Amino acid sequence: MPQEDAQEEATAATGTPIPRRAAVAGAGALAVAGVAGIAACGNGGNGGDSGSGGEPEKGTVLGKASDVRVGGGTVFADAEIVVTQPSKGEFHGFSAVCTHQGCIVENVGNGTINCGCHGSKFNADDGSVAQGPASQPLPKQQVTVNSAGEIVAS
Ligand code: FES
Repeated sequence: MPQEDAQEEATAATGTPIPRRAAVAGAGALAVAGVAGIAACGNGGNGGDSGSGGEPEKGTVLGKASDVRVGGGTVFADAEIVVTQPSKGEFHGFSAVCTHQGCIVENVGNGTINCGCHGSKFNADDGSVAQGPASQPLPKQQVTVNSAGEIVAS
């Protein structure tokens, strides 16, 4: 009997078991919080802008001027620019984003820039509406032809 009493006293006297358990539990909680914090940072760190909806970058080479037919045009979908050539050597650039609901226009033919989504047509000369449902013209986009014969957004 006296021996058991001595053991209890020793445990009670050190007092270490309870604080140690608390410390371990606390460390575990911190570790979980730390992982959650890292995950949150990883998810929130994506600040990259895909560039969709913005102005095309100036100086972007769209393609060869010789690929734009006289009396027709070419849609450069990646740059979201359509270039027409109403007469030889005369290039006109417009936004290829349809002003109706934002589709990229499909092609140029019969003097118009044509949107395949709902049938809007824009005059290839000046981007004005030739046929609805769009009611606003295609915004103009400056383009130039460089010495290598490439069309450049400017
Ligand atoms: Fe072009 Fe509707 S988005 S006609």
